[in-house]
Amino acid sequence: MTPRTSLGEADAPADMASRLIDRWFPCAVVDKAIKTPAGSGRSEKALFTWFASRPIAQARAAVLATLLPDDNGLQQDVEAAVRSGDPSALARLRKVISEQYPAGRPVVLDVFSGRGIIPLEAARLGITAVGTDLSPVATLGGRLLTDYPLRDWSAEPPLPFVDALDTDQTLFADQEPRLLRDVRTVLAEVGQRVADKVASLFPKDATGSFPWAYLWAVTIPCDQCKRPFPLVGNTTLRHPYKKTKDSGQSFRFIVEDESWHVEIHDGVATQAPTFAAAPGKKGKSAHCLFCGHVHGLDAVKAKGAIGEFQDALVAVADGGDTPKKEWRSPRVDEIAAAEGVVLGEQEPFGGLTAVPSERIPSGNQDTIRASAYGYSTYGDLMNARQTIHFVETVRTIREVREELLVAGYSENYANVLTAYAAANLPRKLRRATRGAKLLSHGESNGTKQNRVQVGDVFSDESKQSFNFDYLEAGPGGGPGTWSSVSTSGVNALKKVLEESPFGIPGRIRKASAVALPFRDGTVDAVVTDPPYYNMIDYSDASDLFHVWLKRCLYDVLPELFDDDGLQDKSEEIIVKRGGTTDEHRTRDFYEQMLSRAFTEARRVLRSDGHLVVVFGHSDPDAWLRLLGALQEAGFVVTSSWPSRSENASTGVASIKVTVTIGCRVAPSTLSVATAAQVDREVTEAVKAACREWDREDLALTDQLMASYGPAMAVYGRYSTVLKPDGTRADLDRYLTLARAAVRDATALRLDELPLETFDATTRFAVFWQRLYARAVVPKGEARFQAQADNLRLEDLRGPLLTESKAGFRLRLDQPTQISPRSSTFETVRAMAAAWDAGGTEAVAETMATAERNPNDAHLWAVVAEINRQLPDSDQIAKALAAIVRNAGTIGNLVYRAAETGLGKDGQLTLPETTEEIYP
Ligand SMILES: C[S@@+](CC[C@H](N)C(=O)[O-])C[C@H]1O[C@@H](n2cnc3c(N)ncnc32)[C@H](O)[C@@H]1O
Repeated sequence: MTPRTSLGEADAPADMASRLIDRWFPCAVVDKAIKTPAGSGRSEKALFTWFASRPIAQARAAVLATLLPDDNGLQQDVEAAVRSGDPSALARLRKVISEQYPAGRPVVLDVFSGRGIIPLEAARLGITAVGTDLSPVATLGGRLLTDYPLRDWSAEPPLPFVDALDTDQTLFADQEPRLLRDVRTVLAEVGQRVADKVASLFPKDATGSFPWAYLWAVTIPCDQCKRPFPLVGNTTLRHPYKKTKDSGQSFRFIVEDESWHVEIHDGVATQAPTFAAAPGKKGKSAHCLFCGHVHGLDAVKAKGAIGEFQDALVAVADGGDTPKKEWRSPRVDEIAAAEGVVLGEQEPFGGLTAVPSERIPSGNQDTIRASAYGYSTYGDLMNARQTIHFVETVRTIREVREELLVAGYSENYANVLTAYAAANLPRKLRRATRGAKLLSHGESNGTKQNRVQVGDVFSDESKQSFNFDYLEAGPGGGPGTWSSVSTSGVNALKKVLEESPFGIPGRIRKASAVALPFRDGTVDAVVTDPPYYNMIDYSDASDLFHVWLKRCLYDVLPELFDDDGLQDKSEEIIVKRGGTTDEHRTRDFYEQMLSRAFTEARRVLRSDGHLVVVFGHSDPDAWLRLLGALQEAGFVVTSSWPSRSENASTGVASIKVTVTIGCRVAPSTLSVATAAQVDREVTEAVKAACREWDREDLALTDQLMASYGPAMAVYGRYSTVLKPDGTRADLDRYLTLARAAVRDATALRLDELPLETFDATTRFAVFWQRLYARAVVPKGEARFQAQADNLRLEDLRGPLLTESKAGFRLRLDQPTQISPRSSTFETVRAMAAAWDAGGTEAVAETMATAERNPNDAHLWAVVAEINRQLPDSDQIAKALAAIVRNAGTIGNLVYRAAETGLGKDGQLTLPETTEEIYP
């Protein structure tokens, strides 16, 4: 493949060893591989919950291209390694890499290592892989993935838990890696012991098994009748499924005098939920079961704030180990056992209260939704029985560790097994707390397969949801239980071990990227994936994990978990959404800290080392900050390689591309250039890259983002770019210019009329529609888009774009007024609305009011363009299609209107020319 963007031969800093990434990257192979299970890294990611991760294929490509010499003959092996992890290709490439670094193995550092995907790829290549992350939770995840699986544990004594080994799964135990077998056994042992300890709180079902799960609801006292009633958002328990003749199950509340109870019935729900939107209303409200009084959400929240929420057991599901979950009303003994739990005095873990009493920092209502409902500590996020269940689990993990030490295990290995057991806590937490709701797959008409599960607490990458009705998994089997999350963890570890047949353990440490614990000039390459600007609140979202992990590991991995309180956020490089007025994690903070981090990276890099940054964000401001930070730290971009590695999220226009950016330390001898010259070079470089991207079908939205790479590569060649007035041209100018160049490169024509010949507003609107159709576009993206057309977003907001919290959407409805000064785009919108209101005559009148000639080629080109971009079923598309069909009649009516002076108070004159000419 030809390079997508790179400096020319003459531009490459001469004193630095040339690497593959300078001229080539396996973009197309990465694009494909990340969609496969192996290339996506799904199994690696399942080992530990963390909120951002690179696909394995992209991490592998970045590491290989950064370390391998610039030799075309290697490209095939790199592609094979990225595509399928081809062992013989990898072995050959390993050899080439080691020959490049005669002093020994190269050192690759990831300064934002998260769960360690990039270091893992380096470690698998037998390279010295080092990862650092500020978060102790992420650091633990990195070790579980990149360090412990690559160590040799064969000298450890056999496990002391003989019973747990006596299962079918371990029939071939001897052939399994030691770590895998021991982790599985320890997890099973912990699960069994905890079940025994909490058995009295979870009375068994008729067959002597633990029920699978329990549906709870929060109750509030009614403002009117004062009686407490439960809040449920759904009364379906299991959808029907015709194929298996399963009629499904639902529940209804039965009210008797002062109390309520639940009746489970077959079939679809017959009773409305008590927490739902009233007919015709948007927001949900609580409806009293007894007197029907309606409580708005604020009134409900206020009750939470003053401690009036109570937890009540609603229903119980049996059949944890079977596919079908059978619901029933809770028995009296079950209600007593569940609701009667009193947390009381619990023996602390070292200096920590057994129940997490750490307060949820304010400003987290968006990240930890329960904190908006009066739940103020991490311990509050579960009901009392769930809390005891977790406390006992932590105690048991620690107790098992003690026994491993007594049995002669090295402290190191006992700690590693304890760490894997502790890592089951986040996996289980994801299916616990008040955010875990009952997930009933299927349809109420019985046409889809029905399945019941515990929902994931994380509603998106890092937001913990909250529900008044939530599910609690019991100590037995079934989705969301300890045994179920153990199985998924063990399977993930198995795959990691299988796919790491060689390699050396990565070294993963907790450290801030702005103060790295390494000596100057000791690292051969920094390959990293910096925080995603405002997308993920890493530490706020993972503090729930942190509070439980530290209770388990405070003295086991003290270097990670012996700190007081929550995770330290003072140096966290993010832009915090929501937050409080004194929030320090602002945009400027992000840029300054990122610049400090890159400066640190530069310090530890050898002088001929490479910095490779993997980044993707839909907000151009995020790019501006990232690229500004790189420049500030003294790096120049030398190449950039887009890959389609992110999933599109529906509804909001999101960019799917991630760019792998090759950087070098800026040479000391850069020249000064004029803005005119650099403008020209940037435009040419971007247009050349667009031709390549077009061939590879890179979407237009993705090209906009990818264009920053070539622009930066040109801009970085000069120490200063001077504008005619003697001031410096900044980065912002070139990102805007890059976007404009993408638009120009697409040579958008409407009915053979070049886009440049339309008025600016129409140009903007047409390009926007091509890019995003009817999706909501994030605000930053919209601002840059307007900038590329020299328009101000402030002027477009309202007349052209509707604004919502999520961003802007293009208006296609009727404009508030129409006049001869209206843009072509607005005139067409008015015509579509006029068709619906009054057919041909109304359209003609609109055209006449806008003083548009019936032969106005630009007008008809926009009519056709909007029509083409909309689905046939769209009302506006239908109107425009009808207008086209009736163009002749409309034209005659417009002329008649002109002749009779109808259009505009008898003042109408049609333009002389049929062409709009815009310079
Ligand atoms: C995009 S994620 C990295 C994900 C990683 N590549 C993976 O695949 O798991 C960015 C990481 O930067 C970390 N981070 C934020 N501020 C930091 C700082 N000052 N020093 C080090 N790491 C930091 C976050 O904790 C987060 O794990």
